[in-house]
Amino acid sequence: MTINNICCIGAGFVGGPTMAVIALHCPEIKITIVDSDKKKINTWNGNLDTLPVYEPGLSSIIEKVRNKNLFFSNDIPQAIDNAQIIFMAVNTPTKKSGKGAGMAADLTNIISCAKDIARFSKSDKIVIEKSTLPVRTAEKIKEILLKENKEVNFEIISNPEFLAEGTAINDLFKSDRVLIGGEDTKSGKIAVNQLIKIYSRWIPREKILTTNVWSSELSKLASNAMLAQRISSINSLSALCEKTGADIFELSKAIGMDKRIGPHFLNPSVGFGGSCFQKDILNLVYLSKFYGLDEVAEYWHQIVKINDYQKTRFAHKILKTLGKDLKSKTVGVLGWAFKKNTNDSRESASIYISKMLLEKGVKLKVFDPLVEKSKVLSDLKSLKAKNTENLIVSNTISQTLDQVDLVAIMTESEEYKNIKTEALVFDGRGIYFSSDYTIGKPK
Ligand code: NAD
Ligand code: UGA
Repeated sequence: MTINNICCIGAGFVGGPTMAVIALHCPEIKITIVDSDKKKINTWNGNLDTLPVYEPGLSSIIEKVRNKNLFFSNDIPQAIDNAQIIFMAVNTPTKKSGKGAGMAADLTNIISCAKDIARFSKSDKIVIEKSTLPVRTAEKIKEILLKENKEVNFEIISNPEFLAEGTAINDLFKSDRVLIGGEDTKSGKIAVNQLIKIYSRWIPREKILTTNVWSSELSKLASNAMLAQRISSINSLSALCEKTGADIFELSKAIGMDKRIGPHFLNPSVGFGGSCFQKDILNLVYLSKFYGLDEVAEYWHQIVKINDYQKTRFAHKILKTLGKDLKSKTVGVLGWAFKKNTNDSRESASIYISKMLLEKGVKLKVFDPLVEKSKVLSDLKSLKAKNTENLIVSNTISQTLDQVDLVAIMTESEEYKNIKTEALVFDGRGIYFSSDYTIGKPK
């Protein structure tokens, strides 16, 4: 069978960029991205400067492929019916209520996708788990598909995504690996091969790794947990550096030069953010507990706890430096998204730190070149932050630096590197705990 029609359910940070890159490399395949959020689909079909996802290089790809072989549509039934391959790239946040609340992944969106696929499919489909899912979710999906539609054959493949936001296009063009987990049956192997054929259009074959379904699902959770573990390790050591006079950057360099450890992901920070690290580790903790592995659960849980500790430590250090009369103090916050080059602020450390400062009566001026003003306020609102009337969203860096007592740099954006200010600077890239660190005139 020649693949010429793909559907992707979920037009978010994964669905948008991954399908754009497949569309670019496979011009003969028609790809339709659908989403239950109609406004989002309209925005994807709108102005290239205001696409729902900001990623360097993305809008120029969209310009090339949109309405040629990549389509954004609200017609979910039609897109499912037409497709031979269906990617599920819907969000899988931490559960807010019910069994496993605060820990387990909420699979409502995946279940609803599976039901839609079952309901609208009139021909055989290869169904791909692109979302990050708990190990053995494919079993559950299969159950739903079989129960709801006995007429067609569904082959379920795990193909987790490893892109990082801010570098998504580059990550997709030059993936370290593409992981495909399938069943060891004749039809399973055929389905895996169809996906290999697509990726091998631009990814060297030796970088496409095939495994069983459960290994693939679990590898994704484990990869994120191990990346986050490195950050929490270096952040925990930053606290020890402060006490001992060791320098966290020197430490990071010295550790990373050991080729068994490697230099990547050892940058100290105000704490990792983003929609995935915390939720995926909590999911791993939940799964470990579910299988009765309490020690394993506790080991991974510690990474999230250190991350919370680091955020709180940063906020406390700022408060301590500001001194007693906190209501008369203003802090400039540079960076609201969880890292540079993205408009995504989900779980950004900046939100939590700002909330803690606002609660103590400190006034804030916030700047982020990619995050909309309304998003800053809605992020704080969703955390039930107090005193939000004391926050101004600035339009420029210089507005943010004007008449503030302290500047907190939250992300590693280039434009924050050479700022000129007389205020005390707490630099989230690692130097922040040195209270005599200033840019411009010392205090
Ligand atoms: P997102 O919130 O940006 O996008 C998900 C989209 O799915 C939303 O637009 C939502 O409206 C839509 N949706 C949800 N349920 C739907 C349904 N039943 N029918 C149609 N549309 C539906 O999420 P994301 O960041 O793209 O993440 C998607 C998945 O990929 C998650 O499981 C995440 O863990 C994983 N992941 C994310 C990243 C990342 O960098 N964001 C990287 C790798 C993996
Ligand atoms: C991360 C992983 O890197 C991706 O491989 C994965 O696909 C994705 O999660 C996911 O599953 O969602 P992402 O969260 O987009 O990607 O971005 P990262 O570059 O990993 O950064 C995450 C957070 O860690 C950011 O807040 C960043 O500032 C912080 N970080 C990163 C550090 O504090 N120190 C570092 O050395 C690196």
